[in-house]
Amino acid sequence: MSSKWFLVLQYLALFSVILFDQLEPRAADSSNIIRCIDEEREALLAFKQGLVDESGILSSWGREDEKRDCCGWRGVNCSNRTGHVYKLDLHILQVFPSPCLKGTISSSLLILQHLTYLDLSGNNFSGSSIPEFIGSLSKLSYLGLSNTEFAGPIPLQLGNLSRLQVLDIGFNSLISGENLEWLSHLSSLIYLDLSFSNLSKFSNWMQVLSKLDSLKALYLISCDLPPTIPSSDLYLNSSTSLEVIVILGNNLTDSIYPWLFNVSSNLVELINLGSNQLQGSIPEAFGHMPSLNTLFLASNQFREIPKSLGNMCNLKSLTLSYNTLRGDLSEIIQNLSDGCTKTSLAWLFLDSNEITGSLPNFGGFSSLKRLSIANNRLNGTINKSVGQLVKLESLFLHNNSLRGVISEAFLSNLSNLTILYLADNSLTLEFSHDWIPPFQLSQVNLGSCKIGPRFPKWLRNQNQILSLDISNSGISDTVPNWFWNQTYNLSFFNLSNNQIKGKLPNLSSRFHPYRPGIDISSNQFEGPIPQLPLNASFLNLSKNKFSGSISFLCSITGHKLDYIDLSNNLLSGRLPDCWSQFDSLAILNLANNSFFGKIPDSIGFLKNLQSLSLYNNRLTGELPSFFTNGSQLTLMDLGKNGLSGEIPTWIGEGLVNLVVLSLKSNKFNGSIPLQLCHLANVQILDLSSNNISGIIPKCFNNFTAMTHEKGSNLTLISNYYTSLAYDSLKTTKSYFDKAVLTWKGSQYEYQSTLGLVKILDLSSNKLGGEVPEEIMDLAGLIALNLSRNTLTGQITPKIGQLKSLDFLDLSRNQFFGSIPSSLSQLSRLSVMDLSYNNLSGKIPSGTQLQSFSTSMYAGNELCGLPLPNKCPDEDSAPGPGKDDAKTSEDEDQFITLGFYVSLILGFVVGFWGFCGTLLVKSSWRHRYYNFLTGVKNWFYVTAVVNIAKLQRRFRN
Ligand SMILES: *[C@@H]1O[C@H](CO)[C@@H](O)[C@H](O)[C@H]1NC(C)=O
Ligand SMILES: *[C@@H]1O[C@H](CO)[C@@H](O)[C@H](O)[C@H]1NC(C)=O
Ligand SMILES: *[C@@H]1O[C@H](CO)[C@@H](O)[C@H](O)[C@H]1NC(C)=O
Ligand SMILES: *[C@@H]1O[C@H](CO)[C@@H](O)[C@H](O)[C@H]1NC(C)=O
Repeated sequence: MSSKWFLVLQYLALFSVILFDQLEPRAADSSNIIRCIDEEREALLAFKQGLVDESGILSSWGREDEKRDCCGWRGVNCSNRTGHVYKLDLHILQVFPSPCLKGTISSSLLILQHLTYLDLSGNNFSGSSIPEFIGSLSKLSYLGLSNTEFAGPIPLQLGNLSRLQVLDIGFNSLISGENLEWLSHLSSLIYLDLSFSNLSKFSNWMQVLSKLDSLKALYLISCDLPPTIPSSDLYLNSSTSLEVIVILGNNLTDSIYPWLFNVSSNLVELINLGSNQLQGSIPEAFGHMPSLNTLFLASNQFREIPKSLGNMCNLKSLTLSYNTLRGDLSEIIQNLSDGCTKTSLAWLFLDSNEITGSLPNFGGFSSLKRLSIANNRLNGTINKSVGQLVKLESLFLHNNSLRGVISEAFLSNLSNLTILYLADNSLTLEFSHDWIPPFQLSQVNLGSCKIGPRFPKWLRNQNQILSLDISNSGISDTVPNWFWNQTYNLSFFNLSNNQIKGKLPNLSSRFHPYRPGIDISSNQFEGPIPQLPLNASFLNLSKNKFSGSISFLCSITGHKLDYIDLSNNLLSGRLPDCWSQFDSLAILNLANNSFFGKIPDSIGFLKNLQSLSLYNNRLTGELPSFFTNGSQLTLMDLGKNGLSGEIPTWIGEGLVNLVVLSLKSNKFNGSIPLQLCHLANVQILDLSSNNISGIIPKCFNNFTAMTHEKGSNLTLISNYYTSLAYDSLKTTKSYFDKAVLTWKGSQYEYQSTLGLVKILDLSSNKLGGEVPEEIMDLAGLIALNLSRNTLTGQITPKIGQLKSLDFLDLSRNQFFGSIPSSLSQLSRLSVMDLSYNNLSGKIPSGTQLQSFSTSMYAGNELCGLPLPNKCPDEDSAPGPGKDDAKTSEDEDQFITLGFYVSLILGFVVGFWGFCGTLLVKSSWRHRYYNFLTGVKNWFYVTAVVNIAKLQRRFRN
């Protein structure tokens, strides 16, 4: 997972939506309605004019008679006493990517001199700077401009807003100058969020903060804070009012501690230092913060938990995920049990560490609601102690080595359980036939648990499920009708790798409306593919027996599809021509079916396509001129079809990002276009088994990726979101490509090392002339196949430069002369074929060239070992070797360097994303802020706010 995403996962955990209470000035009671002030109405209308309001957010704003009272307009509040506008709140909670305001902020706002509250968060000001005049709205106490696509410098004029209590300008692309002195003028500031601003030059941040006496909440997420803190700043007599400290993702080191423990008075409730570079033991000092409620230290390099953490009587949430914690789980739990932490702790996240041992006794952790010990090295059988945690709502134990049987006795006390992750252990789930669970699950991940062979009947009354993964669980059954009838809100559905049979019903209305993802690959589903959800984000139906056409795709109109894999089915018909509606499609795999006809032109509309595989179908005709400019395509596999015509020049001109190109086993003719040499990134080029004639271009040494041995880290798509729902976990996925080389039935698989695989295969064509010496510059090649052409000339001694070569096939050409001794320097060579040329002379001796079978030299005039015939200058009579070798000729000696690249769905659950949540004690919340209440609401807000931010931030 890229670190950026990682950060964001964490951000999800702590993005605290703090909404100010209506800070309405206490007005004298007034029963007569005061109309708004004309001048202010005009100012607001001018403000509206600067905005682009595509979706009518400001439709209540207008000059019409019935709209005259601007105090009744959406987002506008006027004082009951004076009639002045004091609050303008047009923030958009990105409830699923929502319509928002665009355009510019008009300076007419300056007319609203009584404005105390301005919130435009979540709108889109597309890269412009924060207007300086905002600094003249001198009565502002609340300024919310977060997630508004502002960029550029933070205006110094904000320093004039001396009454400001909340400054929330995070999640933009702002840059601070060297001096944030202006910030220290904001002496009333309570809440400061500069997240995602570049503060790398802000070296005196601690000094500035020390002047903000009232500051209670500080958010500096991913701000590139300067790595070294001037030592003079460390012991500043800083603000002691801080209650929330979130400095996440800044590569902080231990040098933060003096400041941190200096400012951390008795008040501090939440500390989040996730995604930094903190190491060693977690400081004891955290244990001496009596109010600390939430401690989030995920994604550092901590190794130990001090005993002092057991004495935190107010600690509700402890998150130590993604560190390098070691040792036995029972010791860790013992450390936390010594004092009163165990009774207060509601959330405990220890996942993704190196913790060993078996599940200890959790007795005493009476408040625990969310427990994660996933991704560790736990072994042993699962015991009942977890089942005694009666308040448990979420349990994550996946990806350990736990063994044993989970029966209903284990789960029957957990009546509030909603999230259950047991995947990737060696667990068996065995419930009695008619068991009805006491809980209603919303997220279930039981992948690789043993559940089958029957479809789990206990799911029958679980009708709140949003996310279900029962992949690879030994089910060989049909999906019962009751299941399809009760599921209407699934957002992530994974049934892959079972032996589930039968047809699929119409699924279009059974999924969550927002980007549901479906993986039912590697089963035995058959029949036509039914109607699928309009807003699907990914569909993996590969490796089944689906038949019929794929015209259903054209009904998926939600523009959300990122990934379609229908490979390895029995699908047929022409390819549909509606690709222009898949503007976010990144991966399209239709390999190994029986599609026929031309490749439709509209494939060219897939501007975000990164991987296209149409391998092994029956497509014919010439390639349309798709993918011309700015294509993202890194993999294009059109092999094993009946495509004809010349290799189009646009491939070289337009697909400059290509890493993998296969046109093998088609009917392409003509010569290799020189434009192909523009593919500097190409690592796998397979043009084999066509009718290509002419010569091998000299410019092949422009394939720079092939010229060096260093690999790339080739992954086609890294992480992106698939689905998100109210209370659902965010799921991200990654795809990895895999190249498989086949040689005589053995497969050589390069998966994690795909970036190292560099292949040039021009075999079985009609290429003639000499092999240009420039080919020998491709020092990174691991496989070179030029066999079955009419190439001539001598094998150049420069072949010794191909140091990485593992496979070499030059057979069935007209090479003559002797085998250069440099060939014997290729120490990695494990497969070589030089047969059926006109080579002569002695096989260079004393190397692995002697270890190859004699058939690899057959059909030449060679002599010397391993051939039985001695060379003339040696004694002894010639042997029969050469003729013998000839008889062993057969088709399977053809080195098929053909690769197939398959896509593997790796799926990473940000389950611990919950953990840093603000379980903030009510004291200051009630004093200052109005939090959204209830966990459900909290997730609703954070989840949706974040997906919108993420989409903006990372997908373009
Ligand atoms: C101001 O007036 C509106 C409408 O009459 C009323 O709903 C609101 O409660 C009043 N606010 C105060 C603070 O009196
Ligand atoms: C943190 O450190 C890593 C590795 O040292 C570096 O790649 C990354 O850019 C740094 N991040 C920040 C925010 O400085
Ligand atoms: C569990 O793992 C530990 C090492 O981590 C090992 O010593 C122990 O034998 C394992 N126990 C079982 C039951 O496999
Ligand atoms: C389960 O949740 C409900 C509602 O939040 C709560 O009232 C109840 O006490 C919980 N049950 C247990 C055993 O904690």
